[in-house]
Amino acid sequence: MKQKKHIKLRLLLLIAAAFFITPGFTQTPVITLNVAKANTNVSPMLYGLMTEEINHSYDGGLYAELIRNRIFKDSKTEPEGWSLVKDDPSSKAEINLIGAEEHVPNDERRNAINGAMQACLRLTVEKADGRVGVANAGYWGIPVKPSTTYKASFYIKGTDRSEPPRWPWEPKPTTPPLPVIENNTPGPITISIESTDGKTVYAKGTINLEKSIYWKKYEVDLTTAADVKPTKDARVVISTDRVGVYYFNLVSLFPPTYKDQPNGFRPDLMQLLVNMKPKFLRFPGGNFLEGPKITDAFPWKTTLGPIANRPGHNGSWGYRASDGMGLLEFLKWCEDMAAQPLLAVYAGYSLDGDHIDAGPLLKPYVDDALDEIEYVIGDTSTYWGRKRAEDGHPEPFKLKYVEIGNEDWFDRSNSYDGRFNQFRNAIEAKYSQLICISTIPSTQYPSMKVTTGKEPAVVDEHYYRNSWEMWENASQYDTYDRNGPKIFVGEWATREGKPTTNLNAALADAAWMTGMERNSDLVIMSCYAPLFVNVSIDSATGKKAWQWDSDLIGYDALNSYGSPSYYVQKLFSHYLGNKIVPATIANIPMQKMPLSRRDSAEHKAQKSVPTLFYSATMNDTTGTLYLKIVNTIARKQEVKINFDGAKVSPEATLVLVKGDHPEETNSISDPQKIIPVKETIKGIKKSFSRKLNPYSVNIFEIKTQ
Ligand code: AHR
Repeated sequence: MKQKKHIKLRLLLLIAAAFFITPGFTQTPVITLNVAKANTNVSPMLYGLMTEEINHSYDGGLYAELIRNRIFKDSKTEPEGWSLVKDDPSSKAEINLIGAEEHVPNDERRNAINGAMQACLRLTVEKADGRVGVANAGYWGIPVKPSTTYKASFYIKGTDRSEPPRWPWEPKPTTPPLPVIENNTPGPITISIESTDGKTVYAKGTINLEKSIYWKKYEVDLTTAADVKPTKDARVVISTDRVGVYYFNLVSLFPPTYKDQPNGFRPDLMQLLVNMKPKFLRFPGGNFLEGPKITDAFPWKTTLGPIANRPGHNGSWGYRASDGMGLLEFLKWCEDMAAQPLLAVYAGYSLDGDHIDAGPLLKPYVDDALDEIEYVIGDTSTYWGRKRAEDGHPEPFKLKYVEIGNEDWFDRSNSYDGRFNQFRNAIEAKYSQLICISTIPSTQYPSMKVTTGKEPAVVDEHYYRNSWEMWENASQYDTYDRNGPKIFVGEWATREGKPTTNLNAALADAAWMTGMERNSDLVIMSCYAPLFVNVSIDSATGKKAWQWDSDLIGYDALNSYGSPSYYVQKLFSHYLGNKIVPATIANIPMQKMPLSRRDSAEHKAQKSVPTLFYSATMNDTTGTLYLKIVNTIARKQEVKINFDGAKVSPEATLVLVKGDHPEETNSISDPQKIIPVKETIKGIKKSFSRKLNPYSVNIFEIKTQ
């Protein structure tokens, strides 16, 4: 038995050796840093963020609103997220979605408040034995926290048994007649945050309903007690104990927000982002910019002003967007992170493949983009600059880059050249300081790239890859043409692990980032995607929250966490100098890349990829040097590091992200399995060696003189 075990072990070792041993493995890898030649600038905007409404990034994510389907437009047939509450089953009551269908009956149209709020929820109470009301399930729950004040508001109106005024030629109502019940009576209406079974009330407030058949907004604060245990297994209930017909609209509940801003953001998520120190935010997409149909493109104009005026729109990821996160919120979000907006404007191409040709039909879209830019940077003497001031932000925002569309290589009509130029010409004519980004990268899509007029100054490249592909391509920018456009890597990710990525993905991300960093004269900006994922799974209160596996930051209604990739990005952005330190590496150990099924079928030879990746930058004012080395394999690797042209302090800081298995990950129930650790290391000198941990990202912060 014992012998059998030995044979097995030896066999395993042999396989492992055959897998790993390649010529380079016998000698110690050597990285030589030419500190004296650190002359090339690191792009000051190298690391930013990309965002769009996907995976419930805003509704059920960063945007702090807790009520799902607050204006009852999420479905045309059901009051999604809402249910009837009867404390005593003998009560007689029902709820109906009103005015949400395509062709709204004439009488139902009378319930509209404005162009944004045409649908509403009707609660009909014929018999009230105790409490009767409507409940909202929130976005996979309502977060309950101790000593917390929630701001509730809702529009409500009653009804009257008399028929509404009607011209003789008007059709009779098509909706079933209301039951013969008493008219609404004035009196208390209660709103509570309570457990999903209604047995525990965490916070409660009451408004005094006036007797009226006209809409009125009521507001009330709800505060939880200090001893409440945090939970997300809660709902919001608005209830009465009187018969009547009650109409509800724009029901809203806000917990405390980041910096207490009205209509603001979830503080935990904001903090995770602020900690990344991003230099820019690319918004509003991604696919969310374009929409499935031309009419679904991000409608920035109707995302402005009071939330009562925002109709929301069809999103691009299978659910409606409330547009509570509107253009101004995106801009304020940038401001809160001290990041610059990178504004993507809709360029006349949508996801289902429809486009508007360059020329007169495209002009309104170009004008719309000019208006949007004016809203962002126009001073208050301009029409849209004044609007922004009226919305509460007189100061123009900073803007340098405008992206024309998104992934227009999907547009098989070859119309991008004309569309890009029509946008670019109009934008540059009005704002010569702005740089327009083309979404067709010349290297990947040479036959589709913009050829008319001057070459685009910046092109956006997207990469979604597995770890092997990342390792294989981590050096791709080392050989890119320096005379072509600058590169914006506007979406990239190693797609391993779900819903957030695992350690292996983080190792591949880090390898990829060393390549961008070494070449940040060319790669001037980069941002990972997608940023956010609500990790809630199918439940009674809603179907699975996410559409895209492999995301950076996960959360549910109550808690949030960063993936290993998140920590790698945070560290890369923190430990970054302003000059690239030229470096060479010798004796890189290689490993064999598995063949894909197709490659095997085609009898292709196995490729080898490095097991170590590096980049070095330094701050030329402080003399601090940042050396990043990634060890992607299961064993320790010794690396010799030489410094040319600088003296180094004997003590340095080493920041590490590491783990025991590539599949290790963080999750909502184990949020800190993989987090950075910091240590002080000694013995740094002109030439020193260090054994790198298996599966590790190593960042050395070294003082030079
Ligand atoms: O990041 C997810 C999607 O991937 C983006 O919306 C789109 O631009 C890309 O195809």
